[in-house]
Amino acid sequence: MLKSVVHSFLRSLGVRAVRAHTLDGVEARIRVLEVRNAALAEQTEAQQRQIQQHLSRADQREAKLAELTARLADQTARLTREQDARAAALELLAQTRAVVARVATPPDPAAAADTVCDAGHWTRLGVAEDAAGRTDVAIAHYARAMQLIHRYHPAASRLAALAPQFLRAADAHAAAGRPAEAKRALVRAVELDPADPTARARLAAALDDGRHFDLTKICYVYHDPARGKAIYQEAFLRAAEYVAGGGVVGEFFEFGVLGGFTARLQCELIRDLRMWREVHLFDSFEGLPAYTSPADRDGYDTGVRNVWADPMRFPDDFVRDNLGGPVDAHIFARLGEVIGPDRVFVYRGFFSETLARLPATKAALVHIDCDLYSSTREVFDALAGRDMFQDGCVILFDDYNCFRANPAFGERRAFAEFLAGQSRYTASPFYTYGANGAAFLLHDTTVGAGL
Ligand SMILES: C[S@@+](CC[C@H](N)C(=O)[O-])C[C@H]1O[C@@H](n2cnc3c(N)ncnc32)[C@H](O)[C@@H]1O
Repeated sequence: MLKSVVHSFLRSLGVRAVRAHTLDGVEARIRVLEVRNAALAEQTEAQQRQIQQHLSRADQREAKLAELTARLADQTARLTREQDARAAALELLAQTRAVVARVATPPDPAAAADTVCDAGHWTRLGVAEDAAGRTDVAIAHYARAMQLIHRYHPAASRLAALAPQFLRAADAHAAAGRPAEAKRALVRAVELDPADPTARARLAAALDDGRHFDLTKICYVYHDPARGKAIYQEAFLRAAEYVAGGGVVGEFFEFGVLGGFTARLQCELIRDLRMWREVHLFDSFEGLPAYTSPADRDGYDTGVRNVWADPMRFPDDFVRDNLGGPVDAHIFARLGEVIGPDRVFVYRGFFSETLARLPATKAALVHIDCDLYSSTREVFDALAGRDMFQDGCVILFDDYNCFRANPAFGERRAFAEFLAGQSRYTASPFYTYGANGAAFLLHDTTVGAGL
């Protein structure tokens, strides 16, 4: 067959006679070539198979590597969060110990000098401390002057003049690889001069590190978070402007913190209005206590509809995955990025335990957001019992109109009982906000009596 094919091929070329043995040789050669071709094809196929295998193994390795890299990034982020939370928790613990010690120590008679209502006096003290290099003490004195007279220029200008020193400190910390200290110096620089856009931009950049989950920016308690924020911002702004403008010296207190949303708004106002107050925040961080009073057990929102049955407690896995540590430490850390952490106090636990640790200071603004009659009663009893109220103190009730605004229930009832149960303080309505909020001004009847 092969021979006849070769024959006809040669004829087509015009070759008429070909010797038989020549054809045999050609045929044999072709066979050899065919065998070699087949072997080569086999070899090529085997090599292609090998290359395919290598490629797919490389793909697998690459996928594995990508997976491991992602897992490593995840672990690093979680570790960083945990380290942050640990540092915040340790700081919070130290602060709690200091508060406990302060509460246990009787007030120092020398502290009576604290009552001087002269902004110039505190500014002069600040200048002396400043000259002696005790910047922190100087800031405290200037801050006191600012509480007495809002935006008091001699103190405000000295505070602003200290800001560059903290910006330089931030640079030094950053250069030495101490980001936490650098961040803290930037927070203080912004506090000292909140109108300085450079300090604000630098702080914003330091906080924008891509792993910054912030519970305090989330509004959980309003159906429309943006509207909720606008309503609360305006309500707190009004109260803060009144406190600042009226020179009501004292601190801010919040009872009912949850994730720290309204606490953050207050801290931002304190900073931006240059109010220089402390913020004391109380919450169980475990949700509402058991309802012990019939007013809570049988109220519309608690007993009847039980709208807060969901225990207002963040689930453990949410806390672990997003906060890296306890909620109170997270809130303390995040709010310490708005005003200095020395001005933020977080008290974890039910009021029945934590109210014993109230500081020996006056309250300028009290935000009651603890929903229940019994919790609100506890707060009023404790603040009154420690003489923390004062003339002009502003009280905001987040839930004044809850329980269908019926005076037999909730914060409304607790407030009415407090007023009725003593004779020193009366109150007048200030304003209402949102659907349920109401603000009141307290009046000390012993002030101005008989004038
Ligand atoms: C509505 S939430 C507070 C909302 C918060 N202000 C915000 O900005 O989201 C009410 C909080 O009050 C707290 N609470 C109520 N009664 C309490 C009590 N007796 N002791 C401690 N916490 C209490 C609850 O744990 C809950 O977190």
